[in-house]
Amino acid sequence: MISRNLAILSALLLTGACNRAGPDSAQADANPGAIAKLSVERGQYLASIMDCSGCHNIGSFSPKPEEGHLQGGTIGFEVPGMGVFYPPNLTPHPDAGIGKWSERDIVTAVRTGRRPDGRILSPAMPWHAYSHLTDEDAAALAAYLKSLPPSPHVVPGPSSKEMAPQPYLTVAPPAKAPAQAPAA
Ligand code: HEC
Repeated sequence: MISRNLAILSALLLTGACNRAGPDSAQADANPGAIAKLSVERGQYLASIMDCSGCHNIGSFSPKPEEGHLQGGTIGFEVPGMGVFYPPNLTPHPDAGIGKWSERDIVTAVRTGRRPDGRILSPAMPWHAYSHLTDEDAAALAAYLKSLPPSPHVVPGPSSKEMAPQPYLTVAPPAKAPAQAPAA
């Protein structure tokens, strides 16, 4: 009886282990190239559900939101008191994109807001929320960005409201209160 229970227990444990690891991991264990591919696929999945392209596509906030995948937004964000920030080109282009950044640089920027030059990204980029990413998921996101085709699309840097070179989303003052109806 005891040995039968043990057999059931070990079968359950084995099933649990398989469910956690999944067939893809078994395949990856056998082949380091497969691990890299799984990481890029995981990064692509994360980029899609974390909505990177909702801001960083050329077409973000336009009628063609899918256009120019992660090649840099053409519509900026005003952060009151800070200025206007355009979502940069995230492809590995060495000048227009983040091709000179290491995967570690990307992980640091996405999780702590710190760029390699030390500037802290404005909250227009939701890095406060992304600070909760696990090491594995942050590395997968960086691997995915590195796998994109480099795009030469240039995005303006941060700017003051007065000097902003392209359209931006802004925080409008409240509309004036409607005029009082004349007393009857
Ligand atoms: C709500 C819009 C928005 C979303 C969603 C968003 N970003 Fe950003 N991101 C920005 C803006 C705007 C900036 C520029 C902020 C600044 O310059 O202070 C930025 C900056 C960055 C930078 C720094 C690049 C550089 O050249 O300085 C990286 C890296 C980045 N985002 C990656 C991502 C990734 C990866 C995702 C998805 C997981 C993502 N962003 C989602 C708006 C967004």
